[in-house]
Amino acid sequence: MSRYIAIDDKIIPETKACISPLNPGFLFGEGLFETIRADSGKPFLLPEHLERMRKGLKTLGLEQPADFDKTATIISNLLEINQLNRAVAVIKLICSQPSNVNPDAKPETCLIIKADKLDLSAIKIRQQGLGAQILPWRRDSRNPLLALKSLNYLENRYALRSVKQQGFTEGIFLNQAGELCEGTFSNLFLIRANRLLTPPLTAGILPGITRAFILKNAPAAGIEVWETPLFPDDLKTCAGAFLTSSLMRLAPLLELGQNRFALKETAALRETIMDFFNLTIR
Ligand SMILES: Cc1ncc(COP(=O)(O)O)c(C=O)c1O
Repeated sequence: MSRYIAIDDKIIPETKACISPLNPGFLFGEGLFETIRADSGKPFLLPEHLERMRKGLKTLGLEQPADFDKTATIISNLLEINQLNRAVAVIKLICSQPSNVNPDAKPETCLIIKADKLDLSAIKIRQQGLGAQILPWRRDSRNPLLALKSLNYLENRYALRSVKQQGFTEGIFLNQAGELCEGTFSNLFLIRANRLLTPPLTAGILPGITRAFILKNAPAAGIEVWETPLFPDDLKTCAGAFLTSSLMRLAPLLELGQNRFALKETAALRETIMDFFNLTIR
C-alpha cells in the first residue's frame, strides 16, 4: 500500500515528498518534532503536544507554520488515507524552515506530518519491564535546549546506541550536580512509600507530556507525587521505578545502575496509573 505524508496542508505519496538539502533541520538539526500516539484514530493529548511545539518554536525564534491551527484536521485526514483509523498509530510532527542557511532571515516554517502503524509488540515487551544504565557523562541543566524536542537528537541517539551495545534498553542522564534527569526517550519516576518522585524540570529535562499527565491525574487517585531533585543514592531506598513516554506510556524498570527492582511490590500502583490512560481514551 502506498503511504501518504502531509507537507503543510498537502497530503502526498511519501515517495513524492522531498525537502531541500539546504533545510536547516537537515544541516544543523534546527527544528522541532513531536511524537504522538493515536489509538483508533484519536491522537492522545494533542493540544498538549501542540502547545509544547508552540513554546519550542518561540524559543528557537521560528515562525509558527501557516497551517499549524489545522494540524488536528490534517492528522485526521492522514490517518484515514493511510488506513490507520482502527489501528494504534504513531504520528510524527516535524517543523523546520524550508531552505534557508541564513539564521537572520525568517521564511515560513514548514510542517511535515507522518503517520505509521505503531509496533505494539515492541511496546509490550518494554511494558513488561526493562533495564537501564546511568550514562557516564553529565548534562548541563542550564542548557535551554534540553527542554525542546529538537531535531538535533544526536546526544540521545548516541547514548541509546551505547547502552544498547551493553544489553540495556535505556540510558539515564545525570546533570552537572549529579542529579538523575531522564532517559534518552523517556521521563523517570521513582516509587517510595506509595509516593511518586520525579526530577523537576529544572534538572534539565524534556517537559514530557506523559509525565505532566501523571502529575495532573495522580492526586485525584490518592497518589502523592513530588517533583524533587533525585540522586543515584535514592535508587537504593525506593521500591521501584518506571519510565514514561507518549508511545509506551509506562514501562517499569527492572534494574537501573546497580539497583534491581521487584515488579510485584509496585504492581498495584502502576496499574492505577495505567488506568488513567485507559479511562481517558475510552
Ligand atoms: C528525552 C526525552 N524525555 C522524555 C520523553 C517523554 O516525553 P513524552 O511523554 O512527551 O513522550 C521523550 C520522548 O520522546 C524524550 O525523548
